[in-house]
Amino acid sequence: MSVPSFDDRDGVIWYDGQMVDWRDAKLHVLSHALHYASCVFEGERVYGGKVFKLTEHSERLIASGKELGFDVPFTAEELDRATLETVQANNIVDGYVRPVAWRGSEMMGVAAQKTKIHVAIACWPWPSYFSPEARLAGIRLMLSDWRRPDPRTAPVKSKAAGLYMICTLSKHKAENLGFDDALLLDWRGQVAEATGANVFFVMNGEIHTPTPDCFLDGITRRTVIELAKKRGYTVVERVIMPEEMANAQECFLTGTAAEVTPVRQIGDYTFTPGDVCKALIEDYDALVGRTHDLAAAARNSAA
Ligand SMILES: Cc1ncc(COP(=O)(O)O)c(C=O)c1O
Repeated sequence: MSVPSFDDRDGVIWYDGQMVDWRDAKLHVLSHALHYASCVFEGERVYGGKVFKLTEHSERLIASGKELGFDVPFTAEELDRATLETVQANNIVDGYVRPVAWRGSEMMGVAAQKTKIHVAIACWPWPSYFSPEARLAGIRLMLSDWRRPDPRTAPVKSKAAGLYMICTLSKHKAENLGFDDALLLDWRGQVAEATGANVFFVMNGEIHTPTPDCFLDGITRRTVIELAKKRGYTVVERVIMPEEMANAQECFLTGTAAEVTPVRQIGDYTFTPGDVCKALIEDYDALVGRTHDLAAAARNSAA
């Protein structure tokens, strides 16, 4: 079944304070954001009609705009309310939300001080297809040729559209070579993150993850660190060099879309998703309110 194009769907999109018909949520071809990447966005997940960590995402959208030198013209409270209205208007129970803020078309050039800042919020159904067992098979990543930039080179703390240029290039190359995703090192050659998710390694019973000093400190990353600590695991945030992946028994990604996704390969390094991945998938699913009958799923997969 082909997936309908994102500009041709039923429903409504919140656009600068109004609900508009999905197909009418348009912008002009001379929008500054399209030419100069003056755009920030969020990715949120709806579980059982509730948006997980909604306020954190609304606050991050505003903070991302500030990093790019503009003020999102709505408060986090207003964005929260608009998001919930959009989710309800589209009858989304389990889905994805995409808020986006960008510079408009009043000025066309590098300088864009007087452009209007637009904001839109779209959402669509996105149920979870994979049981914890299926997820435990793990995904395969290649090492990207691209590196996360130095904070002196790009506004790395912002969830800015421009920073995804190297993610798309990395992901396309990975897919073309038969991998699921790519891991990017940073400008110093240290392990950074995947194209849309943070990375963790289990090394001798401890959980290690790179310090987020030049990439997104994901909301899911912080949530999973808390969950791991509650389970009694030691979590170490530190510089991780790629060769150290040889010492990891388990590896997983975290992100709003990825949730907790076990990894079985990164380049030449292999991992075996095990108890830590399983425990954190269970805890994350419980926190977001997803219920899985693990015993029944195990019986079904054995049958
Ligand atoms: C590049 C990148 N890193 C990390 C993450 C994880 O962030 P979060 O857990 O806030 O979704 C994302 C997803 O938003 C991402 O796109």
